[in-house]
Amino acid sequence: MNLTTKERLLLEDQKTHEELCIQKYTNYANLTSDPQLKGMFNNNANIEREHLNTLNQILADQVPQMNQQGSSNQQQQQSQQNQQQGSFMPQGNTQDYKNSDKDLCIDMLSTEKYVSGTYDTAIFEFTDPGARQVLNHIQKEEQQHGEGIFNYMQSNGMYNPQ
Ligand SMILES: [Fe+2]
Ligand SMILES: [Fe+2]
Repeated sequence: MNLTTKERLLLEDQKTHEELCIQKYTNYANLTSDPQLKGMFNNNANIEREHLNTLNQILADQVPQMNQQGSSNQQQQQSQQNQQQGSFMPQGNTQDYKNSDKDLCIDMLSTEKYVSGTYDTAIFEFTDPGARQVLNHIQKEEQQHGEGIFNYMQSNGMYNPQ
């Protein structure tokens, strides 16, 4: 597979995004004191590392096999998040989460939303169907990261969509 200049530039951009995600998730895992959020951030950081490796493989003209990219870790993580804590809020004005944790979640949710969008745009420029599939798989995982954060926020009363 000979990558076009445009494909190479797009892959380099995505590498920058993945590096940013790794850095943010790693830093934020250290900033939060909630073990559940820490676990999710560390888990996501690992998946972003896999994404970065995959991008490097494509740049080296090696499109990875799709079925080797299991993320069973992530599935476990998500079912953990689904344990319903309901939208219970303690009496009075105290909230059951830290504002700093909410800020971390909002930042990561925005970042994932942006990165997912850039994968979507990049995919349209690829000539190789295998590369498209791999990028599509990564994009799906970015959406799963967003879903995990969304669910965490919802179950902790940080976000109540009407
Ligand atoms: Fe990623
Ligand atoms: Fe992600």
